[in-house]
Amino acid sequence: MSRHVVVTGAASGIGLAVARSFAALGDRVTLVDHRADALEAAVATVAGGAEPHASSAGAAVLVADLREPEAPARVVATAWEQAPIDVLVNAAGVYPATPFLDLDAATWDAVRDVNVRAPLLATVALARHATAVGRTPTIVNITSGAALRARPGAAPYSTSKAALEMVTRASALELGAAGIRVNAVAPGFVVVDSAVNPVSDDYAAAVSPNPLGRPGKPSDIAKAVVWLADPEQSGWVTGTVLRVDGGSSTGAHTLPLSNGTTREDVSA
Ligand SMILES: NC(=O)c1ccc[n+]([C@@H]2O[C@H](COP(=O)([O-])OP(=O)(O)OC[C@H]3O[C@@H](n4cnc5c(N)ncnc54)[C@H](O)[C@@H]3O)[C@@H](O)[C@H]2O)c1
Repeated sequence: MSRHVVVTGAASGIGLAVARSFAALGDRVTLVDHRADALEAAVATVAGGAEPHASSAGAAVLVADLREPEAPARVVATAWEQAPIDVLVNAAGVYPATPFLDLDAATWDAVRDVNVRAPLLATVALARHATAVGRTPTIVNITSGAALRARPGAAPYSTSKAALEMVTRASALELGAAGIRVNAVAPGFVVVDSAVNPVSDDYAAAVSPNPLGRPGKPSDIAKAVVWLADPEQSGWVTGTVLRVDGGSSTGAHTLPLSNGTTREDVSA
């Protein structure tokens, strides 16, 4: 049966890949982003194209700036009016690079509002709609390996993703009795062509290595989201963070052995 899936940050990157994956399964998808032009271009690449008022499977867009305090609830209410929401994927996020000594309140707020407050408030709004009519949607938050590992220039980002992982657990704990599951996918470095979150080639080369030996693709993340959203597959999974990162979070895999043996020696 077709589901109604709402994906934030769906104009590019991981969010768009998630939207495409659900659409490919025959689900109705609502793509949310603050960049109207990019959103229109994105929805044209999603199966079915834009059908803003369709009640059957298809793709619709909602332009919203999730930094605004009322935007998450408004997005959920507008999408719910079109059709009750079965899946909410909070993928919108910003990861600016700001040296520690340059941090200020505005930088902190900008990251926190999009990366933490918006997913929390969207989850609250969805839970209110759903519990009022006895429905049991599921929520998947996109966090990051940065939730566990700080990196230069990313203190607000790492902190926001660590907070979002706790939001995931806290909301799962409180909404479980209503049958609402809340989980997270924590990507490692994934190659995206983002206008909002530019990444230099040097950074990409430095951050890419992982035990599985290839960079992540947005579709790697989307597959995990689809699994967590399917109660037939993951119906007893809630409050978890699924790390989809080629093994990046396992440890310092590029170090030599402590006795000085090189990695080449080990694999020879
Ligand atoms: N690419 C990676 O390596 C990586 C790794 C770990 C986590 N993530 C997370 O994945 C998610 C998607 O990031 P991405 O890498 O695909 O980048 P991206 O820039 O392609 O996607 C982020 C989207 O969020 C939207 N967005 C940003 N601020 C918004 C706002 N105020 N209101 C509405 N929409 C807004 C952007 O317009 C953009 O379309 C983010 O939460 C990011 O933190 C990415």
